[in-house]
Amino acid sequence: MNTFQRAIHLEPQSVPPIWFMRQAGRYHSHYQALRAKHTFDELCRTPELAAQVAMGPIEDFDFDAAILFSDILYPLDALGLGLSFSDKGPHFEKRLVGDAWSELVTVDEAWSKLSFQGEAVKLTRERLPKEKALLGFVGAPWTLWTFAVEEVHKSPMVQVKKELGNWGRFRESILPLLERMIADQLKNGADLICIFDSSAGELSPQLFDDLVRPDVQYLAERHPGKILFYSKGTSSAHLRNPFWRSGKLAALGLDHRWNLAEELQFPRHCALQGNFDQTLLHLSSQELSRHLNEFLKPFQEMKKEQRRGWILGLGHGILPKTPEANVRQFIQTAREILA
Ligand code: CP3
Repeated sequence: MNTFQRAIHLEPQSVPPIWFMRQAGRYHSHYQALRAKHTFDELCRTPELAAQVAMGPIEDFDFDAAILFSDILYPLDALGLGLSFSDKGPHFEKRLVGDAWSELVTVDEAWSKLSFQGEAVKLTRERLPKEKALLGFVGAPWTLWTFAVEEVHKSPMVQVKKELGNWGRFRESILPLLERMIADQLKNGADLICIFDSSAGELSPQLFDDLVRPDVQYLAERHPGKILFYSKGTSSAHLRNPFWRSGKLAALGLDHRWNLAEELQFPRHCALQGNFDQTLLHLSSQELSRHLNEFLKPFQEMKKEQRRGWILGLGHGILPKTPEANVRQFIQTAREILA
């Protein structure tokens, strides 16, 4: 078993596995070099290139897991919304408001346009050493809905909530599509599938329980122990249902607003992931060292049995312009201090 699998199986170990959301991205010179020659869309849709991008941070920083290089928004494109990416971010030709619904294609047709992700997973797995884990991912239905309606991720999501009358209709397409994507990524060699729910924190705990939990639970029950759920901006009030700490989920990702060392102590049957504040990776080496030591201290003070099932990462994705030297410092410091 590699260190990532040991964490998922809640086996005590001194040094946790480390990976960062968006670890293959704009802060990284390896990514920038490939991006100078290809658009983001080309990198994602060409499995050979996607595998090269995904391997970059493994080769340069020695993370314990690689993640499929792609984007959560592709299933919306496949359903007919016409996705493109520019320097300003994603853009849709159509949004799920007004009459755009009539132009959505069937789930079978949408699925036929998404094979590039499974192929990228397969090629990445072929290159990845055995001791490294491979993560696949999809966006959570709720976050995909917010992008389908408003195109950008921006509070307070009034339009997204005004359109909720159509949420049921959206789920009928997106849920079976995500189900196929997850099964395909697992079949092609992913060890675990992350479900990213970056917009979940815009919901009250009640709405979160009504709109988010049922679908995540459905997907997790289809693949017990294979799903990592990450949400941003949620609190303990959102994640109170026993499902979130049950063994149906492999892991629960918490952002930097949580006291993760404390959360590790509460009863749970899944691993917990997180949660260093990614903005602190912009500080000077000395300042970073101070914050990192402070962050790691409570974990260091625990017995390794107490911190079993911990996957070390950031609160959210690594930001553009993060110095590469700080990424190295983070990994090296954590491995030294926790050894
Ligand atoms: O983690 C990884 O290294 C894998 C790659 C990955 C990307 N996007 C590549 C990407 C993953 C896991 C994602 C997930 C994703 N995409 C989310 C969920 C996580 C999160 O960050 O909240 C969301 C909401 C998206 C949608 C998306 N894609 C936005 C809003 C943007 C533009 C703004 C931004 O943050 O870059 C993208 C573009 C995108 N996705 C880039 C990358 C490397 C930048 C593309 C470029 O300009 O080169």
